[in-house]
Parts: sequence; C-alpha cells; structure tokens
Amino acid sequence: MIKSLEAPQTDLLKSGIKAPVQETLLTPRFYTTDFDAVAKMDFSAHEAELRAVVEELRADYNRHHFVRDEEFKQSWDHIQGEKRRAFIDFLERSCTSEFSGFLLFKELSRRLKESNPLLSDAFNFLARDEARHAGFLNKSMADFNLSLDLSYLTKSRTYTFFPPEWIIYTVYLSEKIGYWRYILVFRHMQAHPEYQVYPLFRKFESWCQDENRHGDFFKALLRSQPRLWNNWRSRLWVRFFLLTVFATHTMTVFERADFYEAIGIHPRKYNNQVIAETNKTAARAFPLILNTDHPEFFWRLEQCSDNNLKLIALKNSDRPKFVKFLQKIPLVMGIIWQMLKIYLMKPIDAESIRETVR
Ligand SMILES: [Fe+2]
Ligand SMILES: [Fe+2]
Repeated sequence: MIKSLEAPQTDLLKSGIKAPVQETLLTPRFYTTDFDAVAKMDFSAHEAELRAVVEELRADYNRHHFVRDEEFKQSWDHIQGEKRRAFIDFLERSCTSEFSGFLLFKELSRRLKESNPLLSDAFNFLARDEARHAGFLNKSMADFNLSLDLSYLTKSRTYTFFPPEWIIYTVYLSEKIGYWRYILVFRHMQAHPEYQVYPLFRKFESWCQDENRHGDFFKALLRSQPRLWNNWRSRLWVRFFLLTVFATHTMTVFERADFYEAIGIHPRKYNNQVIAETNKTAARAFPLILNTDHPEFFWRLEQCSDNNLKLIALKNSDRPKFVKFLQKIPLVMGIIWQMLKIYLMKPIDAESIRETVR
C-alpha cells in the first residue's frame, strides 16, 4: 500500500507540483516569432483552402471528447518503479509540447486580430485544441499525484526565436509527426488491449485528428507562400528540418525505450514507422522528402541515438568536469557527422510525385 513511496524520486517544486525537467536540445521548446512579419504575409493565393480548413476547425468535432470518464476514476498506485517514472516523463514531455503550441498559437491569434481576422480565428481554434490536450495530460499527471505548473513554465522557460518561415516548416512537421505518434500507439493498443494500462491511450484516435487538421492548416499556409517550396534555398531548408525532426525523434524514442517496452511497443519499429509515415505525408506539402528506404538511413539515425545515450551516461558519471568535456567532443562530432551523411543522401522530389500521393 505504501509502496508508492518507493517510486524513483521525482523532483518537486512544491508538494504535488513537478519541477520541469532540465531543458536540453531534446526537450520540447517554446517558440516566439516575428509577429509583425506574419501579419504582413499574403496568404490570399490559397484562401479557399485556408477557409475550408478554418471551417473544419470551427466545427470543433472534439468538443465533447476530452472528458475524464469513469475509467479514470481509480488509483494508479499499482503502476510503480521504472514504469511509473517513464510514464510520468512521457506525460510531462507531451504536456509541455502541447502547451508550447498553445502559447504560440494564442499569441499569433492575438497579434493577427486586426490584420487578418481569418488567420486570427484559425490560430484561436488551434490554441483551443492544444489547451485541451495539455490540460488533459496535466490531469493525467494528477492521477500520479503530480502536475505541471503551467504558468510557472510560461514565465521560466526560455523562448527560442524562429522566423515565420521556420515556424511554418517545423510546426507543420511537428503536427504531422504528432498525428503519427498518437495514431500508431492507438492502433497498437487496439490490437493488444493487454497493454492498455491507462485509459489515456483510448483518447488518441480523435485526438490525433486534431493534430492532423492543425497540420493541414500549416500545409495551406506553406503552399500559399511559393518561396517556401519553389526554389533551391527552400529545398535545403526542408531537408534540414526533416532531418532534425527525425533525428530528435529517434534520440528521444531510444532514450525512453523503457517506456515503449512497458506498453508493448518495439522502440525501433515504432520509430521507423513514425518517421517513414511522416516523411511520406510531408510529400503533400514539401518540395522534397528524405529517402527513408536508403539502406543507411535508419542505421545512421540510430548511430546519432547511440552517441546521445553515451552523452547522457557521461553527463551522469562522476568523472571530473574537464574529462567530461574532452570525452563529449567526439560524441557530439559523431552526431554531426552522421547527420551530415544523411543530409547528403539524395532526397526524393515530391513535386513530381505529388499527383500519386494521396
Ligand atoms: Fe495537440
Ligand atoms: Fe496540434
């Protein structure tokens, strides 16, 4: 009964409020952008498509979805030890990244109110969805006697500045990868209900449709700006963002292999499938996609992940600081080298195959 006290230590800000995990390159970021530049962008080339997506968002299909039904009303103290720690970590990461979306979208909605009411509405709907997602995850954390202080997070986190073009590329990708991450877990749980240890996963099917609609909205924004896809510079950027999102995903999945194994998911298979599907989906928006069928593609991503795991072990070791620093260099260089090798792999032209991609 008091076994919960033996759970691995979780840092607390105050009773029940979890201290946010230390920010690293891999933790979800908070973003800010040049809001005036967004206000000046002309999206009229794809206005019909934008209006259609905004109407979908306005319909608010999931307004009654995020309800904590009977299933949640029980004790979860039987989830213990490493599994509990990994699960809390998963909830926190997901909650932070949903909340990061909320903050950015809310600010965009506010700043576009005068100049572009249609987009302002759209970002407001997006913020509505992300607030629901983050809130639901935070309530799930409360089931494990913890929660995140989101207003503290708003003030204490560092905000990364991205120009509007980068925001459009990265948010598009993170919405689509979010879709695939959620739907693949949902399908796995349907096929293997014995791993349904907590009812959150049941919510993922409709939830991921929100992410899909958000991605479609960003796709319409992206395609309305020809300079984001019709020139060599955009092609280089797209390769870069696809690669960094996939490398980050691989590193975080392998870092949390215990969590995936605990819910019966094979980390490698899951990672490869999420990346391959997201890459395929990105062909609808991006001028090119990466060649995930290249025999070295996933191997090189996993080399990055291996180095990342060694970096974590090094950080947690009790070696002297300067030794840590020296040993860190070849590992970081190794990650950069593998990413460079993937970057230089011949990509697949998406403009020419678009007709065949559904
Ligand atoms: Fe979301
Ligand atoms: Fe989203």
